[in-house]
Amino acid sequence: MGLSHRELIEQVSSIVRSRLAEQGAGHGYDHIQRVWKTACHLQGICGGNLLVIELAALLHDIGDAKFHHGQECSKKFSVEILNDLGADEVTVNHVAQIVDNISFRKRASAEVLSLEGQVVQDADRLDALGAIGIVRTIEFGVAFDQPFYDAEPARHNAEQKKTGVGHFHEKLFKLRNLMNTDAGREMAKTREDFMRSFLAQFELECTGQG
Ligand code: ADP
Ligand code: NI
Repeated sequence: MGLSHRELIEQVSSIVRSRLAEQGAGHGYDHIQRVWKTACHLQGICGGNLLVIELAALLHDIGDAKFHHGQECSKKFSVEILNDLGADEVTVNHVAQIVDNISFRKRASAEVLSLEGQVVQDADRLDALGAIGIVRTIEFGVAFDQPFYDAEPARHNAEQKKTGVGHFHEKLFKLRNLMNTDAGREMAKTREDFMRSFLAQFELECTGQG
């Protein structure tokens, strides 16, 4: 007898939690938990196989290239973990295909995503937006010694500094249009609006007006 849906999810989530324990800012188990919850929420609206969605959300960053000498191992690790737990082959293959194709980096060469893959990709992208997205951008800046904003932009016309605020514009505000599902797009809009009002207030405070 194989594990029940709940048992399988519990086992996978505890494996992921312990494997990611060492990974720091923005990419630890906290990110996984939020993506998992958001993916379940989207599934309630958009449908799709809940088991596949939950497993792919839990496993999508299990072998992140940043922590494996630049080599992306998430698909390989997912297959190993699911096979060890006796998950059925159709589920394992579907989860592996999603995990292998949802990353932002791979978007140009990615295979077509199933509804389940689209839901998990939207949930992952949503975690770069909103209040959480602001916090993760700041955490990234701290970890990689990048300022959140350029206090003296006029001086840097020639060589523009990379900043957290720059990252909002260069990447994060483009995510809304890349959403797969209508429900994901709606959440992205709410989160982007929140970031834009944060930036407006931030700007006021920086210029002594807020
Ligand atoms: P993922 O793999 O989940 O798509 P990344 O590893 O690219 O995410 O980034 C993790 C977090 O750090 C995200 O919230 C992202 O927006 C933020 N981040 C990534 N690159 C930068 C950057 N150059 N400046 C500021 N924040 C960044
Ligand atoms: Ni992720």
